[in-house]
Amino acid sequence: MPQTHLIAGNWKMNGLKSALPVAQAIAARSRNHPNARVALFPPATLLPLMAEALAGSAIILGGQDCHHADSGAYTGDVSAAMLKDAGAQMVILGHSERRHGHLEPCALVARKAQAALRAGLEPIICIGETLDQRQSGLTRQVLERQLTDSLPDELGRAAFHVSYEPVWAIGTGLAATDAQIEEAFALIRAHLHRRFGPDFVGHLLYGGSVKPHNARQILALPGISGALVGGASLTAEDFMPIVAGAD
Ligand code: 13P
Repeated sequence: MPQTHLIAGNWKMNGLKSALPVAQAIAARSRNHPNARVALFPPATLLPLMAEALAGSAIILGGQDCHHADSGAYTGDVSAAMLKDAGAQMVILGHSERRHGHLEPCALVARKAQAALRAGLEPIICIGETLDQRQSGLTRQVLERQLTDSLPDELGRAAFHVSYEPVWAIGTGLAATDAQIEEAFALIRAHLHRRFGPDFVGHLLYGGSVKPHNARQILALPGISGALVGGASLTAEDFMPIVAGAD
């Protein structure tokens, strides 16, 4: 029996109400792929509408970020409880577009992960090196630091995912090679075992230019639990072949 993979579509800042039929098409066609747990991460404005449009389907919904506090005077922010209330079961945290575009430090990502757990959301915590860091031979050091500082101890008692998303692979069409992904996974696994015990089973995702043509090969890597997909999750035509890659 093949392993079940999480195939997660991160819509980023894309999607108006007119995009709801895309989510409905993905939900309908996902029924043919029982080996994939399909998740969609729409912008917060679409979350409640998508939850309503997909009611009764097996699609998991999630938020793209959350605040570290449960509520309060934080203009423009969205709390984990609000995401949960709107229909989310998961939340992406520490995405490179937050770390670099919004200068979010690892310690903040860790506080957000604690907030997600308090609200009952399953966090997907993203880590990844920039091209400069890789070319300077700093990849292992960067990933190790991001893991140490972005993963709070509370995760040892929770379900969560770590997504390896090299910054240079996001939106470039240039996915990491199998060897690069496997090297990062080995490092992540070793870290999780040190932190949470030798029997701890981490859920490891890969993100960065996952496309219809490379999804099956990436999802066949040993120990991979799934993929976090950006651009190719915006249409059913691109996303469904990736979902099928889990068959
Ligand atoms: P792309 O699939 O567009 O490279 O984006 C990946 C990503 O950022 C997923 O979170």
